[in-house]
Amino acid sequence: MTQHPITETATPLIEWSDRAFALGLTSMDTTHREFVALVNALARAEDADFGQCLSRLHQHTRAHFAREDALMDQTRFPAAAEHKAEHRRVLAELAQLQRRVDKGVISFARSYVRERLPEWFHLHLATMDSALAAHLRDYPQAAASA
Ligand SMILES: [Fe+2]
Ligand SMILES: [Fe+2]
Repeated sequence: MTQHPITETATPLIEWSDRAFALGLTSMDTTHREFVALVNALARAEDADFGQCLSRLHQHTRAHFAREDALMDQTRFPAAAEHKAEHRRVLAELAQLQRRVDKGVISFARSYVRERLPEWFHLHLATMDSALAAHLRDYPQAAASA
C-alpha cells in the first residue's frame, strides 16, 4: 500500500482564515478561497502533475483578475490603473513559469510558488483587493453580479 504522509498531513502553504482574508464580498471571497485551494494543490503536486496544476491556477487567475478588472471599469474605481497593472504583472509571471514548466523546468516554479505567491497574496488582499472591496460596497449590484 502506498502511503502519502506528507500530502495527508502537511499544513497547507496558505491557510485560509476569514480574519486574514475575507473581504466581506461573497463573490470576491469565493474566488480568493478557490485561489488558495489551487495554490495549495500546486504546492503539494508531484512533479508529474505540476504542469497541469499550474495551468489550472493560471486559468483561474486569468478569470479572477478579469472579473476584478471588469468591476473596476463598471464602477470607475479610482485606483484601477495600478490594480490592473499589478494583475498584468502577475499574469506575465505565471505565463513565464508555465513556459519553463512546459520545457520541463519545475524547480524555479516551485520556489516561486513557495516563496513568492503566499506573500504576494497577503499583500494584494490587504492593499489593492481590500480597497476595491471597500469601494464596491457602494455598488452592491455590480459586486453581486461579478
Ligand atoms: Fe483578487
Ligand atoms: Fe486584485
